[in-house]
Amino acid sequence: MTLQVEQLHPLYSAKITGFDMRHDTDPESIAALKSLLDKYAVCAVPHDIPLTNEEHIAFSALLGPVARKSSPNISGTGVRLPFNEIVDQSNLDGKGKIYPDQDKRLAYKRANRQWHTDMSFRSNRATWSLLSAHIVPPKGGETEVIDMRTVYDDLPEKMKTRLNGLEAEHCYWHSRVLGGGPEPTPEERATRPPAQHALVHDHPRSGRKVLYIASHVRCIIGMPDDEAMDLLQELRDIAVQPKYILSYEWTVGDVLIWDNLATMHRGTDFDDQNHVRDMRRVTCREY
Ligand code: OGA
Ligand code: MN
Repeated sequence: MTLQVEQLHPLYSAKITGFDMRHDTDPESIAALKSLLDKYAVCAVPHDIPLTNEEHIAFSALLGPVARKSSPNISGTGVRLPFNEIVDQSNLDGKGKIYPDQDKRLAYKRANRQWHTDMSFRSNRATWSLLSAHIVPPKGGETEVIDMRTVYDDLPEKMKTRLNGLEAEHCYWHSRVLGGGPEPTPEERATRPPAQHALVHDHPRSGRKVLYIASHVRCIIGMPDDEAMDLLQELRDIAVQPKYILSYEWTVGDVLIWDNLATMHRGTDFDDQNHVRDMRRVTCREY
């Protein structure tokens, strides 16, 4: 295996060619990929043909434990891809048709266009997400990523001191409603309870500090809500400066792997009423 690494953004991120997730599954190849992920935080791995669902799941399981659906689907969701390990990030319903504009399942998917880290609303958080492109629209639908280690490094010392020891509550429903989705029913709310995490943590492998914020953050423990919202807004405004953002333009067959414990990401707009975007995610978790 001969890898070529091309940095995509001046601060982090890489495109890796010469790596095939169907074949490069030996421990040395996996270790090499993990160390690239630790350094670059997000890596694009192009393939001529998209991985099958089975290949996608099998490769992800080599990086770490794979998340399986543990909550029931949002009511009414037909299942297009019958795999508990795959999160269907397409704009297609269970029959393969584009969701109508007013469909609440589409509204919840559009909420991914807010900056977030995957599964921060769980106590057992996501580590790597592997998003695979099966169909991409002709225009728009890029995925944007920010390395939150660099953002933390650049914070003023006064802010770093202020964040020391703070914990935030992350809630799935908070970001769904903020993103334009309807209020969940009490039964839906109970399927995805909130979780608490430090606002700053040590990245497990690189040892760098990370600012861990996301649209899922609902409050900061022990801080009045208005003060917390101001602080979170200030942090978000710092993080989303153009100089920190990688905008990844997809080609069918690409797998983009990002480290949720080091980055924040979001989807971007595209014409989701007239074009199909078929993206599928497998997610590794902490334990
Ligand atoms: C995800 C996600 C954004 C996109 O799969 O977790 O946020 O561009 N995707 O589809
Ligand atoms: Mn996501």
